[in-house]
Amino acid sequence: MKKNFKFDVDYIREQFPALAKTVNGYHEAFLDGPGGTQVPRRVARAVCDYLFYYNANEEGAFRTSVKSDELVVNCRKIFAEFFNCDPCEVAFGENTSSNNFKMAFCFARMFEPGDEILITNIDHEANRSPWRLLEQLGFVVKVVDIHPETITLDFEDFKSKLSHKTKIFAINWAANSCGTITDVKKFIAEAHKYGAITIVDSVHYAPHKLIDVKEIDTDILQCSAYKYFGPHLGVTYCKKELGDKLNSTRVQAYDNTRMPLKLETGTLAMELVNGAAEAVKFIADAGKHHMNQLEDEVKNYSGLRKEIAAGMKAFEYYEDELADALRAKLTDIAGLKIYGPGEGAPRTPTVSFRIEGVHAHDIAAALADKGLNVWDGDYYAIATIRDVLGLEPVGGLVRVGFAPYNLMSEVDRVYEVVKEFGR
Ligand SMILES: Cc1ncc(COP(=O)(O)O)c(C=O)c1O
Repeated sequence: MKKNFKFDVDYIREQFPALAKTVNGYHEAFLDGPGGTQVPRRVARAVCDYLFYYNANEEGAFRTSVKSDELVVNCRKIFAEFFNCDPCEVAFGENTSSNNFKMAFCFARMFEPGDEILITNIDHEANRSPWRLLEQLGFVVKVVDIHPETITLDFEDFKSKLSHKTKIFAINWAANSCGTITDVKKFIAEAHKYGAITIVDSVHYAPHKLIDVKEIDTDILQCSAYKYFGPHLGVTYCKKELGDKLNSTRVQAYDNTRMPLKLETGTLAMELVNGAAEAVKFIADAGKHHMNQLEDEVKNYSGLRKEIAAGMKAFEYYEDELADALRAKLTDIAGLKIYGPGEGAPRTPTVSFRIEGVHAHDIAAALADKGLNVWDGDYYAIATIRDVLGLEPVGGLVRVGFAPYNLMSEVDRVYEVVKEFGR
């Protein structure tokens, strides 16, 4: 936490109607952010506004269609600020899993059987299964291992599996299993030495940190707006020079050659695109709200990107304080083990743990009873939780994930329930 930084959590909370709900007489606390965040009123309004006032298909001669097209162009500009790229490098789709499956279909026709794909054991299945599917077409899939004690990627193992045969390298920026943030820039630079195309899953990173696709130099990056206050929509960044070469899967009648349209199959969910862009504006406005305290840290940015950067910083400082407090409290509980990288290592405010001899679901259910929403299981980080850690028989891990609308009192409430399970 930045010294003396004061986060205005009331300003954030009053924008989220869901936070007024109660369960069994308790305020419902949404600590399930890594599964999906709640939505501020303005995002839902933006979805409705589109449907009420802009609803038309693309490229019509009439006014509503023209306005709708202008709105989508503007949403791409907003996401270009979010990613630090050109608007023509922003494509919208159903969700990250589907967007990767679509990409896999492009790559299937770009490379030859025998070519290699490198995936990792730290990734969510959304960034593994699509590439594994290509195995059925004769591609060779290799898997980068993790250090099980810290849930961090093994860079040496990665280097040993990388070669001139590697055509695709898929890696996540932050692990939804337990919050590890990977230095993807280092991995990408290495993969590029061999000419591999890199795909970064930033789904768990995007809600907590500023994305800069130029800085990490990835070819493709995926994220999902519903993890950062938006509706259920996937957003893709694709480097224009790669996108121009991709043989994508739009129907013949559509323009199959232009970026970014060539990455979008058929009519977009434009109401969700408008909602997703509004979520970015929500982050930017939170940045503006805290700007007087953060000016120094974001002075190298300008315009909307500066506000987004400030919003992310404000969230990060506040969420880290909550996560650190929870970790400190949980370490008191006998038999409880927190998984993930240790103190000082880069990580998101996601705290995953289990208690020896207790099924993870029993803890999650007891928390749910008190209005404390957390996830348990493997959260589709199956390779990490099941294959590497072997935790399937005990129900995987309990995961508490913080968002900027959570409270320190919720940390205390979680602790009070979990401590009852201690030995
Ligand atoms: C790290 C990570 N990647 C990918 C996904 C899948 O995203 P989507 O539901 O948009 O397909 C998730 C969802 O939980 C995730 O946490």
